[in-house]
Amino acid sequence: MAEQDIVLRTIDGAVATLTINRPDKLNALNIPTREAIVSHLEELEVDKSVRVVVITGAGDKSFIAGADIKEFEGRSPVDQFEIMRHRSVFEALAAFSKPTIAAINGFCLGGGCELAMAADIRIASEKAKLGQPEINLGLLPGGGGTQRLPRLVGLGAAFKLMYTGEMIKADEALRIGLVDEVVSVDGFSDRVTELAQNIAGKSPVALRLIKEAVRASVRTPLDEGLRHESSLFGLAFASEDMAEGVDAFLNKREAKFTGR
Ligand code: COA
Repeated sequence: MAEQDIVLRTIDGAVATLTINRPDKLNALNIPTREAIVSHLEELEVDKSVRVVVITGAGDKSFIAGADIKEFEGRSPVDQFEIMRHRSVFEALAAFSKPTIAAINGFCLGGGCELAMAADIRIASEKAKLGQPEINLGLLPGGGGTQRLPRLVGLGAAFKLMYTGEMIKADEALRIGLVDEVVSVDGFSDRVTELAQNIAGKSPVALRLIKEAVRASVRTPLDEGLRHESSLFGLAFASEDMAEGVDAFLNKREAKFTGR
C-alpha cells in the first residue's frame, strides 16, 4: 500500500474524515500510521475550510485494534524511548483546536481506545468492542490510557478494564461513560455525519473557545477554571460570529458563521 493511503482523508463540506486504512490488520497503529495521522492533523489545523474532524477505521470490523504488536518484538528500551520522544499521535489529537469525533465502528482496543479518548466525542456502533488489553502483553497503556480512562469512567471501572484486559460491548461503554452515544450498525455512518455536520454549522470561534475552556477544566482548580471561562466569554464578544448569532436570533433568521 502506498504510504499516503495508510490514512485516507475525505472532505464533506467543513467536515474532514481521517480513516485509518489497514483493515487486514484491524487498523493497528504502526509507526507510519501514527505519523500520517499527526501530519494530517497538522494540515487540518491550519485549513480554515475544515471545522470538524472525524476519525474512524476502514472496513466493517475495527476502529483501531491497538498499537501494532508486531513492532514491539525485539524493540529495545532505547528504541521505545526514541519513538515516544516523537510527537505523540494521542497528544496531537488532544491538542487539536477544532472539535474531534471518534467514530468507533468496531474493535477499539489499547492505543485505539486511547486515541478515541483523546477525541472530544466518542460515538460507537452497537457492535463496537472496547478495552485496554495491554495487561495481556505484560504492558500498561502508554498512550494516555492510565490518565484519560479514570477521568472518563472513574477509578474502579478504569482499574477493572486495565487490570483484566477484558473487552466491553458498546452499551456497557455507554453505561460507564467511555462512549457518549451508541448507534445501530445500519444508522451509524448517517448519525456520525449528522453530528459532525451539526457541529460544523456552529461558530468556529465559539467552538474553539469551548474546547479551550473544557480542556482546561481537567487541569485547573474550579475557581481558576471559572475565571478562565469568564475571560473567554468576554473574548467571544469581540467576534463577528457573536454579532452574527445575536443578530440572526433577533431577526429570526439562520446564522451564517464565518469563524471571525
Ligand atoms: N497489532 C498487530 N496486528 C494486529 C493487531 C495488533 N494490535 N490486532 C490484530 N492484528 C492482526 C492479526 O495479527 C491478524 O493478522 P494476520 O491475518 O496477518 O494474522 C489480523 O489483524 C486479524 O486479526 P485476528 O486476530 O485474526 O482477528 P480476530 O477477529 O480473530 O480477533 C482481536 C480480533 C481484536 C480480538 C485480536 O486481533 C486481538 O486481540 N488483537 C490485539 C489487540 C491488542 O492487544 N491490542 C493492544 C495492543 S497494545
